[in-house]
Amino acid sequence: MNTFGVIGPGAVGSVIGESLHNSGYQVTFLGRKPGEVHVKRMDETKTAVFSVEAISEVETAFDYLFITVKGTQLKGIMPYLDKLTHENTICILCQNGYGQLDTFHIPNAYQAVVYISGQKKENVVTHFRDRVLMLPENTKTKKLKEDIAASNLEIRLSSDYRYEVWYKLLVNVAINSVTALSRNTALILQEENIRTLCKRLIQEGIGIAAAEGVHFQETIIGEIMNIYAGYPPYMGTSMYYDRVDGQKMEVDYIQGYLYQKSRVYGLDTPCLDTVYSLLVASEMKE
Ligand SMILES: NC(=O)c1ccc[n+]([C@@H]2O[C@H](COP(=O)([O-])OP(=O)(O)OC[C@H]3O[C@@H](n4cnc5c(N)ncnc54)[C@H](OP(=O)(O)O)[C@@H]3O)[C@@H](O)[C@H]2O)c1
Repeated sequence: MNTFGVIGPGAVGSVIGESLHNSGYQVTFLGRKPGEVHVKRMDETKTAVFSVEAISEVETAFDYLFITVKGTQLKGIMPYLDKLTHENTICILCQNGYGQLDTFHIPNAYQAVVYISGQKKENVVTHFRDRVLMLPENTKTKKLKEDIAASNLEIRLSSDYRYEVWYKLLVNVAINSVTALSRNTALILQEENIRTLCKRLIQEGIGIAAAEGVHFQETIIGEIMNIYAGYPPYMGTSMYYDRVDGQKMEVDYIQGYLYQKSRVYGLDTPCLDTVYSLLVASEMKE
């Protein structure tokens, strides 16, 4: 029987672990410290409880390892990856943004475009919606899809994976920037200037994607703005919550990734350059 490890029993990791566990797969949740995590659906009081083991104590080399810490927390888990993997381990990095895999030395590591919506508060994860991981199509990811076919975690294999990555980057870049910088929720989309800024950020992102060989139609701007229009005014984004909670934001992997690409191609991206600089500046400490 395959063994599954989930590093980072947070919003995304707990939902992945829960999906596998409920279908009878052997899953270990690995956190900083031993404890437990409770997973509940929105509007339900019933919770499922899972034991969490300390990553430093676990000695299993897993067949599948899901890494679901935030991009900013990757450094903390790196020392443990050798002992938690064997030569055929398939490692799925479940994070927003892009470029993180460049720091990995595991041969079979793939980054998923994550469509799981949830939030962790203390040791309770509330799962709002979706259980989808999008991955590039290859023999390893096909095997993963087959091996977990009995679970309700959906693995979508894409033959145009880079398009999926860039689509999610475009969705994230505008709304995360404006909510984190204003320290305000999706309410701010009611302001026309904010909607205009979002459109410009997406437009600049389209230009960077094109330079990378990933082409979007102009209509994508309207599509993404329609997604934003569906957000309830009280909804925050991951960067907004990180900012108001005083946590480090995943700027390097979203705005920073786009900014670096823009520099490489010598593009004119004034809105991105501004929000990136302000986001970096907002985290500066003596
Ligand atoms: N939440 C969403 O709706 C959503 C949707 C799409 C994509 N994403 C992306 O998915 C990724 C994970 O986000 P998330 O919302 O699931 O974050 P999260 O709820 O904060 O979960 C991260 C978990 O990792 C744990 N962790 C941190 N450092 C660790 C270490 N050294 N060893 C073991 N565990 C450690 C954290 O533990 P502590 O609690 O002790 O810090 C926490 O339980 C991010 O890249 C995010 O952008 C999230």
